[in-house]
Amino acid sequence: MIHTSFPTTRLRRNRHDDFTRRMVAENRLHVDDLIWPIFVCEGHNQRQAVDAMPGVERASVDRLIQHVQPAVDLGIPAVAIFPVTPMALRDEKGTEALNPDNLMCQAARTLKSAFPQLGLIGDVALDPYTNHGHDGLVQDGKILNDDTVQILCQQALNQARAGIDIIAPSDMMDGRVHAIRTMLDQHDFTETRIMAYAAKYASAFYGPFRDALGSDALLSGDKGTYQMSASNSDEALREVAHDIAEGADMVMVKPGMPYLDIIRRVRDEFSMPTFAYQVSGEYAMMMAAIQNGWLDREKTIMESLMAFKRAGCNGILTYFALEAAQLLKK
Ligand code: PBG
Repeated sequence: MIHTSFPTTRLRRNRHDDFTRRMVAENRLHVDDLIWPIFVCEGHNQRQAVDAMPGVERASVDRLIQHVQPAVDLGIPAVAIFPVTPMALRDEKGTEALNPDNLMCQAARTLKSAFPQLGLIGDVALDPYTNHGHDGLVQDGKILNDDTVQILCQQALNQARAGIDIIAPSDMMDGRVHAIRTMLDQHDFTETRIMAYAAKYASAFYGPFRDALGSDALLSGDKGTYQMSASNSDEALREVAHDIAEGADMVMVKPGMPYLDIIRRVRDEFSMPTFAYQVSGEYAMMMAAIQNGWLDREKTIMESLMAFKRAGCNGILTYFALEAAQLLKK
């Protein structure tokens, strides 16, 4: 690298005016970078606010087309579907996860027939369906790995059959990506993609999401035996390496903003399509400050999303997707 020094070099020259700043911009946010997570609930004509996520609503299946239409109109490439399973249907084993007519599958069928071009991402894990709130089967206080993986495979197959394009295992069991890939291939879903929640941390920032799903009050203990510890970074690379070797097409780091260092390492190391999930707690934190008048709404949203691009993301799952897409348009 050639180094000149002041006053020959003045780094402010490239910031002199708007057109120059645009010319030298290293990263850009585009609507194609945005993935919108949505919550689906039971009932008719339901729109339910989520307490800790101002502006986020759960929608019943019969309102889903209306709910998602703005995302389609704005050109958002994909939505990630999360079911709010009625409490009466949650049990020890997460049986409802395997019901081919559960909320997730109903939502997928509804959206696929209304919007064939919209990408559908299906979360695979047991926590929306269990009465203990864990992502897997529990025996004597332990989360069972291999038995859980069997169920996840069937869950993934049901979702693929219902029209999910991208299976997104968020459970952090070992070996699940390979098992799901094998199951999908055996049933001729060779084109169904897998976006692995590859480096998923045990995080306090999931609090509002668990509230939205109603799984927070149920959860006994924490998820520290399967989700990663915030203290680790090398381990994230090993997690991602395994998921890629097992057949993941895309990888994800989660949460987002507190883990930008991990995103950068993953992108540099693997050059794979890399995604981040700006999770519920990040949304809640920013919205709280915005609503207090402590942060500027539009600038904060866009700066937070640009940070992901700079860190190396190909895309971002964000509850701000609709608003960001609108802002990008103007
Ligand atoms: C569960 C799952 C979680 C999220 C996505 N899938 C929560 C958890 O692991 O407890 C969190 C998303 C968010 O906080 O926005 N498998």
